[in-house]
Amino acid sequence: MSLPNKKGYFGAFGGKYIPETLSVCLKELENAYNSYKRDSKFKQSLSFYLNEYAGRPTPLYFAQRISKQLGLKVYLKREDLLHTGAHKINNALGQALLAKHMGKHRVIAETGAGQHGVAVATVCSLLSLDCDIYMGAEDVKRQQMNVLRMKVLGANVIPVESGSKTLKDACNEAFRDWVTNVRTTYYLLGSAVGPHPYPMMVRDFQAPIGIEARSQILKKEGRLPDYLLACVGGGSNSIGLFYPFFADKQVKFIGVEAAGFGLGGYHSASLVKGEPGVFQGSLSYVLQDEFGQIKNAHSVAPGLDYPGVGPEHSYYKVSKRAKYEAVSDDQAVEGFRFLSELEGIIPALESAHAIYYLKPLAKKNKGKTVIVCLSGRGDKDLDIIKEYNQKKQRK
Ligand SMILES: Cc1ncc(COP(=O)(O)O)c(C=O)c1O
Repeated sequence: MSLPNKKGYFGAFGGKYIPETLSVCLKELENAYNSYKRDSKFKQSLSFYLNEYAGRPTPLYFAQRISKQLGLKVYLKREDLLHTGAHKINNALGQALLAKHMGKHRVIAETGAGQHGVAVATVCSLLSLDCDIYMGAEDVKRQQMNVLRMKVLGANVIPVESGSKTLKDACNEAFRDWVTNVRTTYYLLGSAVGPHPYPMMVRDFQAPIGIEARSQILKKEGRLPDYLLACVGGGSNSIGLFYPFFADKQVKFIGVEAAGFGLGGYHSASLVKGEPGVFQGSLSYVLQDEFGQIKNAHSVAPGLDYPGVGPEHSYYKVSKRAKYEAVSDDQAVEGFRFLSELEGIIPALESAHAIYYLKPLAKKNKGKTVIVCLSGRGDKDLDIIKEYNQKKQRK
């Protein structure tokens, strides 16, 4: 079976649930992607920039001390070592090159935590493209350093005042801009979400994570791993790791969502606690109330704070190809400390969710081999950790 099918469905999920006005933009994009992904010049320039500019291949690091403590063999796929500090640069480079090949001179994007916005501002500077980034007004306040980085790189940051003033509102605004300016403008979406072809395209641009990890582990261990572990926000670093192992049925996939303050309260666990529904152009699991209205999400990790998830994960969930678990804010902070103190690597709070899950996994899986995607580095999160510690002390 090809994933997705020609209409952009992963089983029952995905598709294009969009207003008429967007269908022309999406068709143009789909045709361009289908032709350039086979084009040798396009492939050559993408691999040049991934290797020479972003820093691929990333190491697959055997984490000796946490392995010893947990009784597992833990390997970290070091996406945190890439230029700009997270996996987001893989997708930003792929799509910006596509924009350039399509003759667009302006790129727009949405950003929540700011990591995707920084990656887009970076590649636009590199490729000489005009760049406008939509960001919820709340996120602009919370992520000042990333706003500054984007501005230094020459991007224009547009605060969005509608709705909850966070990522989903920034996304809506970017789609609105795209419909109006499609002739000149490319919309560079930051995760494996949205209408077809975005979930497929973002997955393909993130697939080097899994392709490299697969050959690296075969070299180091002479066998495939027992588990792959990655955090799931929109779902791009996880699908980039999982997809190249799809046919290796003996390799189990675990996606780790944010349980926030707890699954009974405020969280971002769309796959664990959501229901199928249409959100931002595709059918997937989404957090909604009894009337089908989208609920606000919460996570201590800004990049996981999103009420939806990519449709390929919904398909993996219902077909049982992957299992999805949720880790709370407190547990993620424990994961953050665990890796920092034992391995000298400060993980992004998003990745710290996956790191924490090694602990419950280890209980029944002594001696097993696990690859964890370390999707980004944690410098960006030090203010959040400081505030978290101050709140705990006050209690
Ligand atoms: C470092 C990092 N990891 C993970 C994520 C979650 O996104 P995704 O699920 O698309 O990988 C983000 C999003 O901003 C991020 O910045």
